[in-house]
Amino acid sequence: MVSKQTRADRMRRVFVKSMVFSLAVAAMASLPLFSPASAAAAELAGEKTLIVYYSWSGNTRQVAQQIQQAIQADAVELKTVDPYPADYRQTTAQAKREQEAGYRPPLQSPISNLDAYDVIILGSPNWWGTVALPIFTLLETHDLTGKTIAMYVTHEGSRLGRSMDDLKRLCPGSTILDGLAIRGGSVSSAQGDVAKWLRTVGLLR
Ligand SMILES: Cc1cc2nc3c(=O)[nH]c(=O)nc-3n(C[C@H](O)[C@H](O)[C@H](O)COP(=O)(O)O)c2cc1C
Repeated sequence: MVSKQTRADRMRRVFVKSMVFSLAVAAMASLPLFSPASAAAAELAGEKTLIVYYSWSGNTRQVAQQIQQAIQADAVELKTVDPYPADYRQTTAQAKREQEAGYRPPLQSPISNLDAYDVIILGSPNWWGTVALPIFTLLETHDLTGKTIAMYVTHEGSRLGRSMDDLKRLCPGSTILDGLAIRGGSVSSAQGDVAKWLRTVGLLR
């Protein structure tokens, strides 16, 4: 008699436990998913955003335009006082020499209204494994402390290369989000990847 009651009690306990477990699972499944990306989206989408980019042959400019089609953002294209040659080989050779010498090409005009922006989207071609020299000039002559920076790089194989490390080194007081690499030859079909990246870093809901 005693052992029968004990078995019935045990079965009741097992039944109650399994019900509690099932209810907990059902409750969790009905909760809205709260991922770090959606938390970031709630924070950054709608912040005052400026796209600053340099483009020698147009690929990085095209991505800047795609970003502007996806989100509300102003854009500034950096121009050097002395333009780089129109010839590809001459430009790569000059950029290599300048990179090795630590040269920073002067920009035509500094960006004077950075205070108005919380988020900077930085666009650069990959030049010899990192950002283009005009971007180095920008980062070394403008204070981006306190800003959130999202960077994309167009390239022909080296992807982001050392650009994220260089960005972090030059902007120690900024929040640096994940970068995006887009192959230069594929920029015309990059709109989807661009939107996905903007969502991931929290700039597009
Ligand atoms: C000076 C120079 C250096 C380059 N170095 C690299 C490189 O190291 N790795 C790479 O993948 N692509 C390199 N490229 C190719 C560019 O990154 C690529 O074509 C890019 O999309 C060009 O962007 P733009 O049209 O905005 O100038 C280089 C191009 C130039 C002009």
